[in-house]
Amino acid sequence: MKVIVVENYEEVSAKAFEVMHELVAAKPNAVLGLATGSSPIGLYENMIKDHKENGTSYAACQSFNLDEYVGIDRNHEQSYYTFMHENLFNGIDIKEENVHLPYGNTKEDCEAYEHSMENVTVDIQVLGIGSNGHIGFNEPGTSFDEETHIVTLKEGTRQDNARFFENDINKVPTHAITMGIATIMKAKKILLVATGANKADAVSAMIDGPVSVDCPASVLQNHNDVVVIVDKAAASKLK
Ligand code: GLP
Repeated sequence: MKVIVVENYEEVSAKAFEVMHELVAAKPNAVLGLATGSSPIGLYENMIKDHKENGTSYAACQSFNLDEYVGIDRNHEQSYYTFMHENLFNGIDIKEENVHLPYGNTKEDCEAYEHSMENVTVDIQVLGIGSNGHIGFNEPGTSFDEETHIVTLKEGTRQDNARFFENDINKVPTHAITMGIATIMKAKKILLVATGANKADAVSAMIDGPVSVDCPASVLQNHNDVVVIVDKAAASKLK
């Protein structure tokens, strides 16, 4: 794992953009694995700015998102489909038909998403990390062999995300559909961004801890091309 520690969120976003841009410049038809959450928003802002100012094109790219809530409509303001359009897709020239997000709550929906990825390899998978070490919505205890599946969200995760649902945990969906860890690990390159003191324990367990399902992100120690970009607060518990 390559770990880069910078000062703050802005620098994390700038560094993450450098990694993303280098890839897309070299491979205009790159397959992008994308994530939601507040962590990658700055990266996405930089991608939009660069697209507008320098013309970097995503017209030949495809994207596959990690996860989506179950039980809310795609057009719900807090769906990850809406999030991705508002925070990235509407600001760049990626084609709607090349954009993929998982959706649904059945085994068939999960298989269909895996099927849509069958003939592609994700060139770069963007990840955030949950305060309990989850990646995508792979909560602690999830087998590393899982592909796309339906998960029951941990209460802590729902609490973390309540801020997007009028601070009311009862409004946060209880389930989600997510790429599994086996799906995520197939990506050629992983770019994980994290900021803030509330991520320090998870970042420390991911990098210095044992590879264990107790911290899903620790599986990344087994991947041969991972770049972790964190601010000082998130890095504060690293050895
Ligand atoms: C959510 C998402 C994850 C994300 C995590 C952290 O639960 N499913 O993909 O990494 O939260 O979110 P944030 O970046 O807002 O802290």
